[in-house]
Amino acid sequence: MAARKDAEKCDYILKLVVLGDSAVGKTSLVYQYTEHTFSESHVHTIGIDFKKRIIDVDGKKCKLLIWDTAGQEQFRAITSTLYRGTHGVIVVYDTQDISSFQNIPNWLQEIAKHRDDVPKILVGNKNDNSKTKVVSTRNARRFSKQQGIPLFETSAKENTNVEQAFEEITRLAIKHSMEMLLKPQEMPPDVITLNEQASGVIRSNAEQGTTKIKNDRKKCC
Ligand code: GTP
Ligand code: MG
Repeated sequence: MAARKDAEKCDYILKLVVLGDSAVGKTSLVYQYTEHTFSESHVHTIGIDFKKRIIDVDGKKCKLLIWDTAGQEQFRAITSTLYRGTHGVIVVYDTQDISSFQNIPNWLQEIAKHRDDVPKILVGNKNDNSKTKVVSTRNARRFSKQQGIPLFETSAKENTNVEQAFEEITRLAIKHSMEMLLKPQEMPPDVITLNEQASGVIRSNAEQGTTKIKNDRKKCC
């Protein structure tokens, strides 16, 4: 009931997925963003964890459903079912762990297998200790430019750039969804279902991977 009330007040409901190697700080980023907390301990995420937050972006109320995935290898099979209905992906590496950065192309390939067009941002987390930083900003920027994916260097620990990263993926997700609405013939049917005309509000049940458009905005806000 409360969830339905939330949804009714929102202009957009967006499903965001957080991916990356184990221990890069995915859960820490999500907790910092949704609960403003940080823990020094590493408790492996098992399968998928869900968090939500409602934010205003450019005057629009957005409900973000954030899927925090497990980075451990044995859960990759679960993550492969994730992409349905996803509006944006946050791909995280650890600025203090080169292998997590080297693994980013594999994550991007994995995403492309399922949803080539989904908006993405690249997040270099743990950017709070210059002495132990091994992935330079320069290299990361070069890579992000090559890929055409915006880069954010963050610290979940110090709450640096976390808000900005989530805000950017939200903006990109909204922009992409609106563009898709204007090109219904290119829409993956399992992701967005056009009800009527393309100028309405996105009403989504992202948990179930479906998004519907309602053309009468006043009714739902
Ligand atoms: P999996 O669930 O196993 O995939 O790991 P995860 O990516 O969710 O990592 P998690 O958020 O659990 O963090 C792993 C470890 O890194 C924890 O000990 C955190 O305290 C630490 N950590 C996370 N973010 C930061 C950060 O911004 N700076 C520093 N210094 N440590 C961080
Ligand atoms: Mg985790």
